[in-house]
Amino acid sequence: MDRERIVTAMSRKEDEDQTLRPRFLDQYIGQNDIKEMLDIYIKAALKRKEALDHILLYGPPGLGKTTLAQIIANELGVQIRVTSGPAIERSGDLAAVLSSLSPGDVLFIDEMHRLPRFVEEVLYAAMEDYVLDIVIGKDQESRSIRIDLPPFTLIGATTRFGDLSAPLRERFGVVMRLNYYGEDDLRQIIRRTSNVYRNAIKADAVDALASRSRGTPRIANRLFRRVRDFAEIIGDGIITNDITTLALTKLGIDKNGLDQTDYRYLRSIIENFGGGPVGIETIAATISEEMTTVEDVYEPYLLQEGYIKRTPRGRVATERTYRVLGIPYYKGLLDS
Ligand code: ADE
Repeated sequence: MDRERIVTAMSRKEDEDQTLRPRFLDQYIGQNDIKEMLDIYIKAALKRKEALDHILLYGPPGLGKTTLAQIIANELGVQIRVTSGPAIERSGDLAAVLSSLSPGDVLFIDEMHRLPRFVEEVLYAAMEDYVLDIVIGKDQESRSIRIDLPPFTLIGATTRFGDLSAPLRERFGVVMRLNYYGEDDLRQIIRRTSNVYRNAIKADAVDALASRSRGTPRIANRLFRRVRDFAEIIGDGIITNDITTLALTKLGIDKNGLDQTDYRYLRSIIENFGGGPVGIETIAATISEEMTTVEDVYEPYLLQEGYIKRTPRGRVATERTYRVLGIPYYKGLLDS
């Protein structure tokens, strides 16, 4: 049976659960440097009664970029409009959303790297001068009109900082990178979730979940919901370590938070390509996944945890990967 992948942070269908989202900065766990800076910028904007400068949030999926944007709007006491790069197909779509803003509002654009280039160009003047330059009519008949916009704050989010054009990047006054969460933060998030859902959870079960969540709150919360199902049906509703271990085993997640897709990826580097270096396109094709998914979703955690290294000639499996897969490691010996 091909299992649905639970430890991907990419899909967020069931994560729309707004009850879990912290609404204010002091409820947001982790990312302390970012919180500290945002707190100051927000207070300064409020004090000057100005729109907050445009903010770009980037980093792997599931770390809370959308949540932070909503928190910023709440703290500022303004409305937030939410859209995404691929949803804005024409400059008219952008004009429609921009002209719906009230002074000081937040416009959140997710997946900023997927914004069409000509839409991006309309955005420049909107960001810089709060004006909208639109061309109406065709050919000789065409003329450009300029519409004033209220001051607003654009919060852009992306998993691919490098894919944003330089002119776009330069128009953000604040650029912040979200990092994977440490296990202490994840434990706090899991305990918070257990309070919100009113499901008791044992301390060792919190540890087990935190260590398998790949540093990602979205995954921690998703695992929590699955384990809670097991606790309610097989047990008495209390999330114990035994129930957690049983559920995670059935979900195919090992003690490092790696699942079958990770193992297929890692095995493919070693078994098909002698441990690498091998290009990402080749790995993606071998395991039948999209290259961008491999690069944005699977690899960042494997890189951070030292399972793979990125070299100019491609990905290389590290000694840790050989160890985890139980394959003898000779590489270092042969190289020296
Ligand atoms: N839920 C998801 N991410 C969170 C965070 N960073 N803090 C608190 N609750 C969360």
